[in-house]
This record gives sequence, structure tokens and C-alpha cells, in this order.
Amino acid sequence: MPARIAVLVSGSGTNLQALLDAPDPAYEVVGVLSDRADAHGLVRAQHRGIPVEVVDLGDSTDRSAWDARLAEALQAWEPDWVVCAGFMRILGPCVLAAFPSRIVNTHPALLPAFPGAHAVRDALAYGVRVTGCTVHLVDAGVDTGPILDQRVVCIRDDDDEESLHERIKVEERAMLVETVQRLCQHGCTVDGRKATIP
Ligand code: GRF
Repeated sequence: MPARIAVLVSGSGTNLQALLDAPDPAYEVVGVLSDRADAHGLVRAQHRGIPVEVVDLGDSTDRSAWDARLAEALQAWEPDWVVCAGFMRILGPCVLAAFPSRIVNTHPALLPAFPGAHAVRDALAYGVRVTGCTVHLVDAGVDTGPILDQRVVCIRDDDDEESLHERIKVEERAMLVETVQRLCQHGCTVDGRKATIP
């Protein structure tokens, strides 16, 4: 039986597309949820006949109501894993409690450097010569959960935010698909900060 995964997106959804296009996936994408009705990732899911849901923070009375609605919507799909693939919101306690150590995020920097929403811009502004991407388990912090895998991308002298992000995303998509495949096949153990896929 393939593992059931739910994917959270806020934007263009190329990471989602990579998950959908993987050959012989060990998982089935059972639902795609966004905080934005205009996220192109939703269109990509609909093209595959995958159920989609929008849970907009602006439609909720407050953040805790949004968190509860998000948890409820995800639980309805009964996913084994939840994958944040370009989801630009911090998950709340209801969602985290519903899927303990079962939520994965991809981030376009080598954590713990440059957490947050502007990782590529921040790396360029700092002047680092290498950056990359990280896939990690989600905890209550901002990009602080145990790291599952990382890939390095060299920064070129003529890079701007867009060119660098595009090169990072090539690595990010491959890493995300590979990590989700391995998680769905083998699970993972967590000991403090150390997450291991056996
Ligand atoms: C990725 O780089 C992700 O890490 C970041 O936003 C980008 C999303 O890309 N948070 P896409 O929507 O999957 O194309």
C-alpha cells in the first residue's frame, strides 16, 4: 500500500509537481491544501484529479481558529505524512499535535542559516559563497525542526535572487522527492535534534 501524503502549497507548486511526477512513488498524494485560493499548485493538483482545499487565514476569526480548520481539513484525508512544499505560513499547535514528527518542510537555504520567508535574499545579502536547501521535520519554531537532508548550491558573482532561487529549486525538488520516498518506505526515528531514516 502506498503511503498517503497531503501537500501544503502557497505558490507556484513546482515542488508539488515533482512529487506528482516521480516515477514509482512509494506514496499517493491524497490532497493538496493551500492558504491562498490563487496558488497555482492547486491547479496542478486539480489536473491530476486530486482533492484540493483552501484554508485562508483571512477567512478565520484568528490564528488559532485557522490552525484548527487546517488540522481538521488535513485529518479528513487521513495522511501518513504532511509535506509543506512552499507553504509560507507557520503551522499551529493543532496541526503539529495531529501529526507529531509527521510533517516535512523544504527550505531554500542551509539551515540553521537563513530561516524565514526570505532565505535566498538573506543569503545573497550576507555574501555567503555557498547556500542550498534543507528538508526537515516541522516543529513549533520557524524552520528549526530536525534536519533530514541538505544539498549545497554555489553562489555565482552575477546571481540575483531569482537566478539563485531557480538553481536552488532544481536541487530542492530532487531532494524533496527522494526524502519523501525514503520516509514513506522506511519511516524515521528522532533522537533530540537527530532525525534518521533507516
Ligand atoms: C521553494 O523554494 C520553497 O522552499 C520556498 O518557496 C519555494 C516554493 O516553490 N519556501 P514552488 O511553489 O514549489 O515552486
